[in-house]
Amino acid sequence: MGSGQFAVTMQILAYSSSVLQPQSPEAKAIFDLGIVSLIVFVLIWIVVSGGILYAIFRFRGRSGEADPEQYAGNKKVEIAWTIIPFVIVLFLFVLTLQAMNRADPPPASSPDLVVTGHQFWWQADYPASGVTTANEIHIPAGKPLCVRLESQDVLHEFWVPQLTRKMTNVPGQPNYIWLEADKPGTYLGQCSEFCGTQHAWMRIVVIAEEPAQFEQWQQAQLRPAQAAVTDLTRKGLALFRTQTCISCHGIKGVPGANARVAPDLTHVASRRQLAAGVLENTPENMRHWVNKPQTIKPGSLMPDFYLKDQEIDQLAGYLSSLR
Ligand code: CUA
Repeated sequence: MGSGQFAVTMQILAYSSSVLQPQSPEAKAIFDLGIVSLIVFVLIWIVVSGGILYAIFRFRGRSGEADPEQYAGNKKVEIAWTIIPFVIVLFLFVLTLQAMNRADPPPASSPDLVVTGHQFWWQADYPASGVTTANEIHIPAGKPLCVRLESQDVLHEFWVPQLTRKMTNVPGQPNYIWLEADKPGTYLGQCSEFCGTQHAWMRIVVIAEEPAQFEQWQQAQLRPAQAAVTDLTRKGLALFRTQTCISCHGIKGVPGANARVAPDLTHVASRRQLAAGVLENTPENMRHWVNKPQTIKPGSLMPDFYLKDQEIDQLAGYLSSLR
């Protein structure tokens, strides 16, 4: 180490995020509406441009020809071109209402998941179980979850294109969406409202699992953090407490580590990425991240602490033990 080299994760870009491959009833409703609208628009385009082209060639002026007969007003034509667009618009309006109903049903009385936008990461709380995590959201496949969207600071926008519609996280004004995946898989989302320098690195990874596997994950997340038992991790924990990490980050099971300003670290090593998607979560990248957060994610709220190499080993070693 010492070279300061680090590789931005390419793994995250391999996750699917195409709006053209909907993987939930909600996303499918939006996709279907898009396809029907597209067909209607293409048909209109063909009819209109076909008519124009036909008129241009069929009725073009030829030399020696007299001017065509001039007339103004044609009731039949006017009625037809008023009624036809009206019927088309009405048809699309009805389809849109249906799609809105399917993509955005009214919220449940209590949310299954609360997702809070922060500069520049996502906090995910599961009120029923008490699980708190960051940036990586696990859901049971095939079950719609009602999600309450909040923000801690500025406007963010939660968007997982394959699973759900976009919705803005507004400070002080919760919004609701339904989040669901037809089948197990990993789905990539991102903040889609500019929220500051690291807006582009507010990735969301949604991992849909079989219900039993989801339950297992939830139970694992509920356990307090792994105790620091080796010399290295004990020293790392001591640094966590003295280097002010503890004033922003929480670790369940560590007395006094209750802060909720920054991502909860109780099971940080179980997550796939660091820094909301910038780095793959490997022990090596954990060292880079605690060493130079401002190089890896300039403008993030985690400051550089100018730790010694040995301290970086200890702190990163401790965090990487929190599975
Ligand atoms: Cu948060 Cu853009």
